[in-house]
Amino acid sequence: MVKSTLSHSEEETRAFGREIGKSLSNGDIVALFGELGAGKTVLVKAICEGLGIVEGVKSPSFTIIREYILPKSRQAANKVYHIDLYRVADPSAIFVREVYEYLRERNAIYMIEWADRIEHILPPDTIKIYMKIIDETVREITINHLNHHPSIS
Ligand SMILES: Nc1ncnc2c1ncn2[C@@H]1O[C@H](COP(=O)(O)OP(=O)(O)O)[C@@H](O)[C@H]1O
Ligand SMILES: [Mg+2]
Repeated sequence: MVKSTLSHSEEETRAFGREIGKSLSNGDIVALFGELGAGKTVLVKAICEGLGIVEGVKSPSFTIIREYILPKSRQAANKVYHIDLYRVADPSAIFVREVYEYLRERNAIYMIEWADRIEHILPPDTIKIYMKIIDETVREITINHLNHHPSIS
């Protein structure tokens, strides 16, 4: 099922992200699509907030993959991998293979910015979120959510 909503502010996007975060569990893969400034990192931070991660979430920039450990009190999963492919415009086969191996483990919650660059290796149950800039403060957020994620609505 595909659902589209308009966010009129960063705060609205954050609230949306926190709700998504609360509904995720171990092994879930969230792929984010959209141009620079669309709000992918804002959404990832808010999803992490919803999962109980309070600080340290930023664009991975040169590290490409960042790992965040979830608080013990949260049962959702042990950790989050935040993968940002912004600087990997043309990923090599070896790199794509590496990411594929990460995803295959399913031992974390995965969030991938610029996911179009590795879209061909995303498993069919990937939660895909498309963000589109409408104007300075408005974003269209489209999510293909799954039946086992009823709270993402
Ligand atoms: N409705 C909105 N939702 C999310 N971000 C917004 C919105 N309106 C304005 N912004 C701004 O857009 C920028 C999004 O940046 P960022 O999340 O880093 O984008 P991306 O990771 O997609 O390149 C931020 O500066 C944020 O304040
Ligand atoms: Mg970003």
